[in-house]
Amino acid sequence: MNTFSTQIDRAAYEAWRENSAEERARVAADPDRLAFHIQPEVGWLNDPNGLVQVNGIYHIYHQYNPFDAARGGATMWNHLSTQDFVHYRDHSPALFPDAAVDASGAYSGSAFVERESCAGGARESAESGRIHYFYTGNVKHTDRDDYDYVLTGREANQIHLVTNDPCELGEKRVLLTNADYPADISCHVRDPKVLKHDGTYYMVLGARTRDDIGCVLVYTSRDLDHWTYTTRITLPERFGYMWECPDLFFLDGELVLVCCPQGVPAEGFDYQNAHQCVFFRVQADFSKSSFELVDDGRPRMLDHGFDFYAPQSFEDEQGRRIAFGWVGLPDPDYDNPTVPRGWQGALTVPRELHLRDDKLVQLPVAEMEDLRGDAHELACGEQMDEPGRVFELLVSCGGAKELKLNLRAGVKLTWLDGTLTFDMVGDGHGRTVRSAALDRLDDLRILSDTSVLEIFANGGETVFTARTYSDAASALSCESDVPAEVTYYQLAPISMDRNN
Ligand code: FRU
Repeated sequence: MNTFSTQIDRAAYEAWRENSAEERARVAADPDRLAFHIQPEVGWLNDPNGLVQVNGIYHIYHQYNPFDAARGGATMWNHLSTQDFVHYRDHSPALFPDAAVDASGAYSGSAFVERESCAGGARESAESGRIHYFYTGNVKHTDRDDYDYVLTGREANQIHLVTNDPCELGEKRVLLTNADYPADISCHVRDPKVLKHDGTYYMVLGARTRDDIGCVLVYTSRDLDHWTYTTRITLPERFGYMWECPDLFFLDGELVLVCCPQGVPAEGFDYQNAHQCVFFRVQADFSKSSFELVDDGRPRMLDHGFDFYAPQSFEDEQGRRIAFGWVGLPDPDYDNPTVPRGWQGALTVPRELHLRDDKLVQLPVAEMEDLRGDAHELACGEQMDEPGRVFELLVSCGGAKELKLNLRAGVKLTWLDGTLTFDMVGDGHGRTVRSAALDRLDDLRILSDTSVLEIFANGGETVFTARTYSDAASALSCESDVPAEVTYYQLAPISMDRNN
């Protein structure tokens, strides 16, 4: 059978890279290149994948296509590592769409390590140092021209790799194929993520039913190799046609599901982007494999900005739950002017997650503070003339009824009548206005990179993430009805060493 395949293996990638020095130098010199966010060397980047920490080192992979800045297509996994989220190494891609089972893309997936400990410390076992990776091999057939790639013409293969070396992921072993999904499920099944509880492994997979209802399939296993369909998680009322990138994890003692529903209509301030990212608390009875979403009628958004999707979390060796997201979106209504210049896409900074009063809160990991230069206090009403584009801003404004923050040319944040509004109409490349209704506004923390903004309100309860291509021509200023305290730090770049 013919498949849509670019047959990209390591040798083809290396041959391309050797001949692409000029293109890489041109992209590296682009004025919108980021200072402290992970970005593709060239081409396209989307979801974070395979996040894991082993022996003190964080490994971060992401969907990557160096050959086409406009679309993901037959993606591979690029691999980076860091010990401190400040000094990184780019190891080059570790997983290629080079087999018949993933010929049209090594799609998203995750990593799993056993974290068993006993009185004497970490238990020595056959598992120690072993990393299990799970991902989706996407295969699109081209032998007929009437395939719709929803019900026909597509294979979604869930694949397992086991390794001690995060640079060499090992042999691809297919765990599940289309034949293993329930009869009412379409060919869209992907993005495996694994959770262990009481000796059983639970794999969640994003899925679309044949009649276009988004859901999460749950498979269980006792050995990570043999998986049985167990149940599905969804809402009683249809909420989108496909749920991508599910992430089921314990957070501060509660079970949480994060996923990305597609095809949800906008409702007031919510679900304004082409596709969504939401979270639920889950009431689980693991003994009965029952997972009920706690639903108060309107699934809550993880991010209220323009560009945020497919976050993935992992627990690090200190027990922190850390997530990266994709600063981007499938099928957006806006554009990224860097595409004709040969690149697009970025990951958010690593964010530590917590659950507070039923709210999922996100804040940059503490290590990001190591990028700070000297603090400058900015009086309310005062202007800072040359803030540059790379800085952090802390605003403390408890009790404010009004606040207006000019961030850069055409980009402002306004708090008025219980609504926090992020306005990019002036220079958004199609990005306009996004708002969130809040009970109060106590504080803001803003990370501004050359072409990414991450805005955390009220200790990370409400977040706005967006690309911005506006310059810093206009001054930074803050006005409020209370004497807000504003602290500005210039931020140093992260470092990125490369293996080659
Ligand atoms: C989400 C997604 C995933 C898929 C990957 C392909 O952005 O569509 O569902 O695995 O991207 O690049």
